[in-house]
Amino acid sequence: MGTHDKARSAKVRPLALVAALLAASALAGAFGPATAHAAELPKLVAKDGRHALMVDGAPFLMLGVQANNAANYPSQLPKVWPAVKAMHANTLEIPVAWEQVEPVEGQFDFSFVDVLIKQARDNDVKLVLLWFGTWKNNGPQYAPEWVKLDDKRFPRVINAKGEVKNSLSPMFRSTLEADKKAFVALMRHLKTADPDHTVIMVQPENEVGTYSAVRDFSPTAQKVFNGPVPADLVKALGKRPGTWSQVFGKDADEFFHAWHIGRFVDEIAAAGKRELALPMYVNAALRDPFNDQDPFTYSSGGPTWNVLDVWKAAAPSIDALAPDIYMRESANVRKTLEQYARPDNALFVPEIGSDKGYARHVYDVLGHQGIGFAPFGLDYTGYSNYPLGAKQVDAQTLENFGVHYRLLAPMAREWARLSFESKVWGAGEADDRKAETLKLGERWTATLSYGEWQFGSIEAPWMSKAEKQPHREVPDGGALIAQLSPNEFLITGYRARVTFGSARGERFMVSRVEEGHFENGKWVFDRLWNGDQVDYGLNLTTLPQVLKVKLATY
Ligand code: DGJ
Repeated sequence: MGTHDKARSAKVRPLALVAALLAASALAGAFGPATAHAAELPKLVAKDGRHALMVDGAPFLMLGVQANNAANYPSQLPKVWPAVKAMHANTLEIPVAWEQVEPVEGQFDFSFVDVLIKQARDNDVKLVLLWFGTWKNNGPQYAPEWVKLDDKRFPRVINAKGEVKNSLSPMFRSTLEADKKAFVALMRHLKTADPDHTVIMVQPENEVGTYSAVRDFSPTAQKVFNGPVPADLVKALGKRPGTWSQVFGKDADEFFHAWHIGRFVDEIAAAGKRELALPMYVNAALRDPFNDQDPFTYSSGGPTWNVLDVWKAAAPSIDALAPDIYMRESANVRKTLEQYARPDNALFVPEIGSDKGYARHVYDVLGHQGIGFAPFGLDYTGYSNYPLGAKQVDAQTLENFGVHYRLLAPMAREWARLSFESKVWGAGEADDRKAETLKLGERWTATLSYGEWQFGSIEAPWMSKAEKQPHREVPDGGALIAQLSPNEFLITGYRARVTFGSARGERFMVSRVEEGHFENGKWVFDRLWNGDQVDYGLNLTTLPQVLKVKLATY
């Protein structure tokens, strides 16, 4: 029975019927005929400097995991899905390599993509496809041999010392056209192979840039470098026209490389979007978030924090610039999140280390209004990238992230909506494990503390005889807070105490603490917390606890 038949046979008030028909025709107008396959295209939207990844028409929180590099074959997928499931992840990020889809120039093979999409659907998991093309960690390793072995047609970067580096130069049309053709073919294939939009985002290229060369110094590149800075960039950065050296001084080489890689990737992304306009982001191999660093020592030209504005000007078709985080210090992680969470840039962490210490940062990322988070290399394909990540990938390694995803998965849609439409805060336990106070707007504060028992306070003299909480080798706590109304908050977290306070010194109380859970997007009341449960802050344990808290003055 179709929607309209149902409407006819049911007893409906005439006005409601008119409204329903109007809504249905508006939908049909916006997204084509309302067939079972006319799923809404995912998109990244922004409003008042806040961001949401819309999937199936509503904000989506990506609790992701990235597969290991060589997981992009049907033979490996049975070793990937069990890990995704064990972690309670809702999205898998996985490579699609240029070498596998176009091994012979002009002959395309998307059989892996087809198997992948079918299995993702069967597993009820969304996909992010990582296009390993001209750049994969600076090099053309994943380009087909007809590309990576033809230095004449696809020239490499030559550094200032005249050394040829294993990184393709962004200055050559031949490279851009060949990569674009393959990427466009992929997007065209997705259009028919994935009508339900199991693929929710695409990452053109992977960690673009060049190591051991700040830019290409080949004669072709040098000629362009000696010319004027393009007017668009001059304007975007509020500069005066001139040559690259005149306009950017000591930054000229890196800005030049960033601009040209940005333009290159933008052209590929724009062409791909003309086939299928999925959200696209570019991931960054990071530089030191605090200190100046010689671009010779990192992947120069990629969207590192110092060139984000150059990239924004160069690549308007790219929806987000995204940090790959492999820094273990919490101060570095937080600084990076601040750098990438901008009104003009949705925060998305497509890679973070797989070791336990990284897991708590899901609370930092979501607290910075992040739209997604994905530890790298968590699958059973038999690889681990220690010392960047975990020493081995086993059930416990997955569970280190699973404890947080299990808590967040049932409320993921609700969190994403609040993050977009309301205000959210949050933090993971810092390396020093000290308490931190978050300012929740003008009126309220919340102090997050760690290592407390549920009862009493370690600082109270009468508690001095109590044992300390057993030492945890790795800090693993964190908490999230979302505003529901001026004096009402949703909180959740792991091994953290949340103590509300008045920012204005008002006399106040926690007037109601409701514990509940989300079922099919609806809040289900379980009980009220009171007495011991609220006398010493709200103590979130290893259980998946979600609270709605009302504050009041008296
Ligand atoms: C970052 C890259 O984007 C990944 O593909 C991978 O190579 C990791 N580094 C290291 O395991």
